[in-house]
Amino acid sequence: MKSTFFVVVCVVLVIFLGICEGGSLRKHFYKHSCPEAESIINTKIQQHVSANPNLPAKLLRLHFHDCFVRGCDASVLLVSTANNSAEKDSIPNLTLSGFEVINDIKDALEAICPKTVSCADILTLAARDSVSVQFKKPLWEVVTGRRDGNVSNKNEVFGNIPSPFFNFTQLKQNFASKGLTLHDLVVLSGAHTIGVGHCNLLRNRLYNFTGKGDQDPSLDTRYAAFLKRKCQSGDITTTVDMDPGSPTNFNTDYYPNLLQKKGLFSSDAALLRQQQSADIVKELVDEGKFFLEFAQSMKRLGAIGVLTGSAGEIRNDCSVVNS
Ligand code: HEM
Ligand SMILES: *[C@@H]1O[C@H](CO)[C@@H](O)[C@H](O)[C@H]1NC(C)=O
Ligand SMILES: *[C@@H]1O[C@H](CO)[C@@H](O)[C@H](O)[C@H]1NC(C)=O
Ligand SMILES: *[C@@H]1O[C@H](CO)[C@@H](O)[C@H](O)[C@H]1NC(C)=O
Ligand SMILES: *[C@@H]1O[C@H](CO)[C@@H](O)[C@H](O)[C@H]1NC(C)=O
Ligand SMILES: *[C@@H]1O[C@H](CO)[C@@H](O)[C@H](O)[C@H]1NC(C)=O
Repeated sequence: MKSTFFVVVCVVLVIFLGICEGGSLRKHFYKHSCPEAESIINTKIQQHVSANPNLPAKLLRLHFHDCFVRGCDASVLLVSTANNSAEKDSIPNLTLSGFEVINDIKDALEAICPKTVSCADILTLAARDSVSVQFKKPLWEVVTGRRDGNVSNKNEVFGNIPSPFFNFTQLKQNFASKGLTLHDLVVLSGAHTIGVGHCNLLRNRLYNFTGKGDQDPSLDTRYAAFLKRKCQSGDITTTVDMDPGSPTNFNTDYYPNLLQKKGLFSSDAALLRQQQSADIVKELVDEGKFFLEFAQSMKRLGAIGVLTGSAGEIRNDCSVVNS
């Protein structure tokens, strides 16, 4: 009885939300089909991160952008074709990178077990492993069995990837539309403890907040002065660290920074605009708590809209659909 009920609930959920599909992912999906897959990905990532300490930020953001558009199906990795402008060619892609690392891993995997490991799983594992290098152990669990999509559309990025100019309500709605909670929003925003942002995204906050040549009052004045020295008004190329104290160290610094009004984007500052959200920010200052919660939210992020079973395909080349 109970199981029939659950199946019915699941079918209904699949129809309306597509949520239950995450249930088909499992630990070590490639245990028999490609036993070395996870260790090869890990070894490759260790090498790439030692050559480029900024890589964890790149891959973590790439994974997030993949999952928020059409689910975690590696659609973000596809290149545009004569007839189609892909996600990576939309404006918010700005500075996505790390594509060549994923392609390098895919080449290594194709050499030992061709047509077996999906690009979506490679990206998910690579994001986890790169962030985990500094800890010498995996920071969160990744279940596998994702398959690759065959559609990537530039026009789908704007409606799905949250903007750094979003207010609290918009952020909450955006995450809710992906089946993620307010708690996930605050926890996952902690990813901004690593990496950089471009000056053009700060122009309003620093130089013209209400159209009167003013500054965002929710930004610490000394920090604003520091940012202004880095970012001249018309600058669109310079980047600034999102966590100025430790830009390549994955830690909880995002939250104390935020509480000191040193969050970089309006979307960061917005998390303090509502009581429940501000309370979560305060809790996550605790490192043990943040790592625990981040691990759980990353699992939910990695399960958004996944293709499993016989849906989708296993791409031969991560940057183009199979012909
Ligand atoms: C909550 C809504 C979010 C907004 C509005 C947002 C916005 C942004 C923006 C505008 C940048 C800077 C891009 C650039 O100028 O190059 C950025 C960088 C980044 N974001 Fe987010 N983000 C959000 C959530 C997330 C999540 C959920 C993750 C991952 C779990 C994430 C991970 C990153 C990382 C690692 C970077 C640094 C990338 C680099 O160094 O190249 N962000 N984000
Ligand atoms: C683009 O579309 C045209 C007409 O629909 C088709 O003939 C052509 O083969 C397509 N090209 C590619 C690269 O898919
Ligand atoms: C992002 O899109 C622009 C066009 O809007 C394109 O010129 C650029 O190459 C894209 N960046 C990446 C990393 O694909
Ligand atoms: C993508 O895959 C679906 C389902 O497998 C198929 O019906 C569709 O024709 C494919 N689209 C492209 C552009 O290859
Ligand atoms: C958030 O932004 C939306 C869209 O611009 C706007 O309609 C809404 O009133 C804003 N909410 C708050 C609380 O400022
Ligand atoms: C500030 O914004 C207002 C309204 O959007 C605009 O008219 C004005 O030119 C801007 N000033 C500067 C210095 O960018």
